[in-house]
Parts: sequence; C-alpha cells; structure tokens
Amino acid sequence: MFSIFRSRPTYRKSAFFQGFTDWHCHILPGVDDGVKEFQDALSILEEYDRLGVSDVWFTPHIMEDIPNSTTLLRKRFEELSSAWHGNATLHLAAENMLDGLFVQRLATHDVLPIGIEQRHLLVETSYFNPPVGFHNMLQSIFSAGYYPILAHPERYVYMDENDYTQLHDMGVLFQLNLPSLSGMYGEMAQEKARMLVKKSWYHVIGTDLHRPEALQMLLAKRVVRTEIANAL
Ligand SMILES: [Fe+2]
Repeated sequence: MFSIFRSRPTYRKSAFFQGFTDWHCHILPGVDDGVKEFQDALSILEEYDRLGVSDVWFTPHIMEDIPNSTTLLRKRFEELSSAWHGNATLHLAAENMLDGLFVQRLATHDVLPIGIEQRHLLVETSYFNPPVGFHNMLQSIFSAGYYPILAHPERYVYMDENDYTQLHDMGVLFQLNLPSLSGMYGEMAQEKARMLVKKSWYHVIGTDLHRPEALQMLLAKRVVRTEIANAL
C-alpha cells in the first residue's frame, strides 16, 4: 500500500508513542475540516501502528458550522473500523463546540462521550472569545452527568492563568495538544502549555491531527522530543 510517510523520522525510535492514546484527532475522513480521504486515514493509522500507538479516539467537530449528526459519525466510524486490520484500537467521540447546537444535543443526551467509561465530553470554544454563558454551559455538562474535558486550553488567546485556575477549580479537565509544546501554534500557546504541564493540570494528550503532513511535521520536531522528555 502506498504510504505517505516515505521518510522515516528518527523519532520512531523513541518510546514516547509506545502505548500512547491519541485523545484528540480529526482522522475520521470526510466529516469535518480534517482528513478528507479514506485511504489517508488508513495510512495515518498504519503510521500510528509503527509508532506503537495503542488507542485512537476520533474526535470530529460537532458545531453549528459543521453540524455532524451522531448517526452519521457512527456510520462513518463503522466503515473505517471495518476496513482497519491493524493493532491500534479505534474509538469514536467528538469535539463539541460550546454553542447553541451543543446545548440542544446535550438536552437529549445526543452526544458522543470520550473515554471507556463514557462519562466525559471533549469540548472547545472559539480561540478568541468565550461563548456567552461559558461557565453555565460547563455546569450544565456536570448536571447532565458528564465531566467536561476542555480541548487545547493553551490555544485560547482570551484565557490567562486566572481563567485556567478557575476552570481547574470547577473540575474541568484539560487536554494538551502535542503540537503546542513544539511551538507550532506560536509562542503564547507554547508558554501556556509549559505552564499547564508544570502544574500537572493536563488530564489527557492529543495530536489534534487534521492531515497526514501534520504528523510528519510533529515527528520531525526535535523540540517536541526535548519538551516531552523534560515535561512529561
Ligand atoms: Fe480538534
């Protein structure tokens, strides 16, 4: 099978990805702004197998601008799962934008929780502004019987240390985007990621992978190796 990963980065010798769970990625093809082609998704999963990744949670966007139904996502997941014969275990969840659509879906429990216990919801906001009633929305997640995991908190430009402390004290869990540590989203996200790593406030880690080239870039970044070795 044609592989998009022609060069073999030295990172593959690292043990970091052995047994790694990717808690955030857009590999499920053709459903959001992530991977488009079915074959690309399979190629990425093959590379994950070579790296030793054990579990992959697909977290396609659900938001007013990308109103994926849970039925459609489950169907696509079944299609990809039946074509996958590798070692990595595949799971389906979603990255839920905290917007009006989410409020509707949560009210009927029409959601795709993350984690084997099916008790957590991966949520995000705009990078620039919190949604109206942000904390109330988070509280409504607890009230509905779930725990919110905030995707890539380090990337929100409107958040500072006080905001993180407030969210942490509320019981909101945090998910680190691995590329943040390498500076792939800029210095601000990198510094915030380092701060949150130091505080040990990250609960899970994800790649937030949207396309095959991004994995190559991540694997090629020496700084990631150093940061991970030092910080995690
Ligand atoms: Fe994402």
